[in-house]
This record gives sequence, C-alpha cells and structure tokens, in this order.
Amino acid sequence: MPKEALSILDQRTHSTYEIPTHDGTIRAMDLRQMKTGPEDFGLMTYDPAFMNTASCRSSITFIDGDKGILRYRGYPIEQLAEKCTFLEVAYLILFGELPTAPQLKEWVAEITHHTMLHETTKKFLEGFRYDAHPMGMLTSTVAALSTVYPEARHVLDPTVRALEIKRLIGKMPTIAAYTYRHSLGYPYVYPDNDFSYSENFMNMLWKMAEPKYQPNPIMARALDILFILHADHEQNCSANAMRAVGSSQADPFLSTAAACAALSGPLHGGANEEVLKMLDVIGSKDKVPAYMDKVKAGEFKLMGFGHRIYKNYDPRARIIKWAADKVFEVTGRNAKLDIALELERIALEDDYFVKRKLYPNVDFYSGIMYQAMGFKPEIFTVLFAIPRTAGWLAQWQELITDPEQKIARPRQVYIGEGARDVVPMENRVVVAPHPAA
Ligand code: CMC
Repeated sequence: MPKEALSILDQRTHSTYEIPTHDGTIRAMDLRQMKTGPEDFGLMTYDPAFMNTASCRSSITFIDGDKGILRYRGYPIEQLAEKCTFLEVAYLILFGELPTAPQLKEWVAEITHHTMLHETTKKFLEGFRYDAHPMGMLTSTVAALSTVYPEARHVLDPTVRALEIKRLIGKMPTIAAYTYRHSLGYPYVYPDNDFSYSENFMNMLWKMAEPKYQPNPIMARALDILFILHADHEQNCSANAMRAVGSSQADPFLSTAAACAALSGPLHGGANEEVLKMLDVIGSKDKVPAYMDKVKAGEFKLMGFGHRIYKNYDPRARIIKWAADKVFEVTGRNAKLDIALELERIALEDDYFVKRKLYPNVDFYSGIMYQAMGFKPEIFTVLFAIPRTAGWLAQWQELITDPEQKIARPRQVYIGEGARDVVPMENRVVVAPHPAA
C-alpha cells in the first residue's frame, strides 16, 4: 500500500517534513510547522478565490465537473428532477434521506404552516421604492425577519434551528411574491394552504380578482423542477457566504440574507437576468457571430456560459432545456430561444470556448423559460434564491454541527507599507491622487 503522505523538502532550511494526506487533501495547518527560523510565522497557502482549497467536509452535494455529474445526497439530479417534488428534495438535502410518505406529509404540513409573513414585515416591504430591484427587497426582508424572530440567535439549540429552517423555507416564496407584486403595485396575496409549494407561489404571484387561482399543472411542475435543480450546489459563492457569516453564529435569517446578497451578483445567480439582457442586446440570430467576436476579443463575457467547477455540459442546463420545451407547449416558443440556440451552437464549435471548456450553465436557458412563463427578468434571481434556501440551510446546519469548524477567518499576505510615522498636515505632499478623483 502506498503511504498516504507527502514528503516535503524545504529548500530554504534543508528540512524534510512528512505531511499526511486524507481524501486527496493535505491540511493547510500542517504546513505551519515549516519555518525558516524562530521568528517565522510558518508556511501558509495562498489561494485567492479558493481555486484549490476545500473549506469543509460535506455530505450534501457531489459534483464531478469534468463528467458533468451532480448528485444530492448520492441521488442523481436527473432522477430527482423526474421523480420527486421540490419539498421532497429539500427534505433530502436537509436531513440526508428521502422522506417516507408520512414524513413527507408532516414536512409539507409544517412548511405550509410557516408560509405567512408577520403583518409588520408586509409594512416593511411597503417602504421600498416602486422600482426597487426584487433581489434588494428579498435580501433586506430576509434580514428583517431576524427582528421578528429574536430567538433565532440561539443557533446552537437544535430545536430552534429546526424551527427557523421551516420558517425560512416556508416564507421565501411569500417574500419573493410580495417583492414582485410590490414592483407592479398590486395588492399582496396571502398564501393558500390548498396548494403545493410551487402552486402556492404562482397563486401569490398571479392571483387577481378571481375567487380561486387555478395554477396550470404543466407550469407548476416545470417550476418545481427548476426549484429542484437550484436547491444546492455545494460550496458556491452564496453557500460560502452563508457558511462564513454563519460561522460567527449570526442567526440564520442574517446568514441567509448574506447568501442572498452573494447570489445577486451577475457572476453568480444574477447571471440569469443578464442572459436575457444579453439576448435583447443581440436582437436576432444573424447578429450572433458578430457578438461572439466581441466576447472572444474580451469585451464582455458570454453570460450563462462557463463555470468554476463544470468543465463539461452543466447537467442542470440539459434538464432545463427539456423542461423549457414542455413550457413552450403551453406558452408558445420564446423567440429568444433561437438566438440562444445559435449562441450555444457556435460556442460548442468555437476554439475559444472549446479550449477553455466553456459550456452553457444553469442560467443560460432558465431565463428564457422563466420569461415564457410570464416572469420579468428582474425576478429571475429571486426564483433561484427560493429553492437555494434549502441548500444554504443544509450547509449552515452542517457547519454548526461540525466540531472541526470555527469562525471563518482567512489569512492574508500583507503587501502594504512597513511601519511609518504620521507626518504633520502642513508637511504632507501629494503622493497619490484623491481616491474620488
Ligand atoms: N464568456 C467568455 N469567456 C469566459 C467566460 C464567459 N462566460 N467564462 C470564462 N471565460 C474565460 C475567461 O475569460 C478565462 O479566459 P483566459 O484564460 O483567456 O483568461 C477562462 O475562460 C477561465 O475563466 P475564469 O474567469 O478564470 O473562470 P472562473 O472559474 O473564475 O469563473 C464564472 C467562472 C462562472 C464566474 C465565469 O465563467 C463567468 O463569469 N461566466 C459568466 C457568468 C455566469 O454565467 N455565471 C453563472 C454561473 S452558474 C450559476 C451559479 O452557480 O451561480
């Protein structure tokens, strides 16, 4: 048996060290013993953007980016999307196993019980400008829930954690729908317990004066599938934000708000909105080659393409393409699909994209489908945040219960000035322009 260790020769001191390996990693702290002298702090690793650093041990989501594999708790995403509902998958992600029928019944009842918002939270939402971006409203309102449920700060109490997890999963669609109605100036619609999770979301979004909203079953199922696909994605930027903030033992509402903020960026969950803007800018299929030339010249990125982990087709993009076809049977084909398909066709053949292994990601087709379903682009990232809340909470729960975890606090390599004395104002000279200049 080969030894599970690295032998490292430190050329600075001619010392050798034996560093154990576990699961294809070494512990960065094992490098600290490598010093050039008693004053030396010890060797650190330098890894901006965590390109090659595992920050935790996790049993929630498995991704093989080269093969295009995604599994939650061992189950392939394709099977979950085909056979399960979103709340079943949320249960799986949070508790590790698929629920039995009685467990699911109880879980659905509990989540449904927590869909209402406190009336003061509704008033809080009313304070936003009519044109406020829904992600800004969602992020702030999730943070504001921390003031409604002060007991949530007892994060080490498993009973409290379980309650706040249900509250957050139950309330996310309600907040999301209210942000949407707010931007349209429509009255808010209260949750309806007769509906499934996705149907109820559609009800709160689109019910007008009719006595009972009738969700289209194909659209409701498509939405549920999208929720399943977005439920978790291991240590992405927002999950990392959730863990980083959660590691200070901030309450789960504030940690989830931090995760929402991370998700809102155009390189992360905000990309779905950017894809639609990009398709609008391109305008028609014949303009695609000229646009691609600009992407290759580095003028801008092709939104909805590329991924830190996937160096193959994102399996979620494939399922979304399939689900989009089902939606188009009801809504009619979104004209932007032709532009998107042409972008994909050229990208998959073009050397620039092939060499860099850039494939469509989850955001490439989701926006086209959302738009066909009647959603405005500004709400797309909110649609991502609703199901991802289950993933964030599972990651948070795993963090809190992991005895190896501590407050997240990276090191830095200091490259600034050495110690210097403050010069009196009258003796100072301009060495750098004013930052605002
Ligand atoms: N269009 C054109 N070139 C790209 C793209 C793109 N979308 N993505 C990466 N590249 C190029 C990049 O310029 C670099 O080229 P070079 O080696 O010549 O400098 C090379 O590919 C490697 O890219 P990178 O920026 O080092 O890759 P990363 O892992 O840091 O970034 C990413 C990953 C997703 C941020 C990036 O691919 C990107 O900005 N994509 C567009 C935004 C997007 O669609 N984001 C959604 C991601 S999926 C949903 C989610 O999890 O949030």
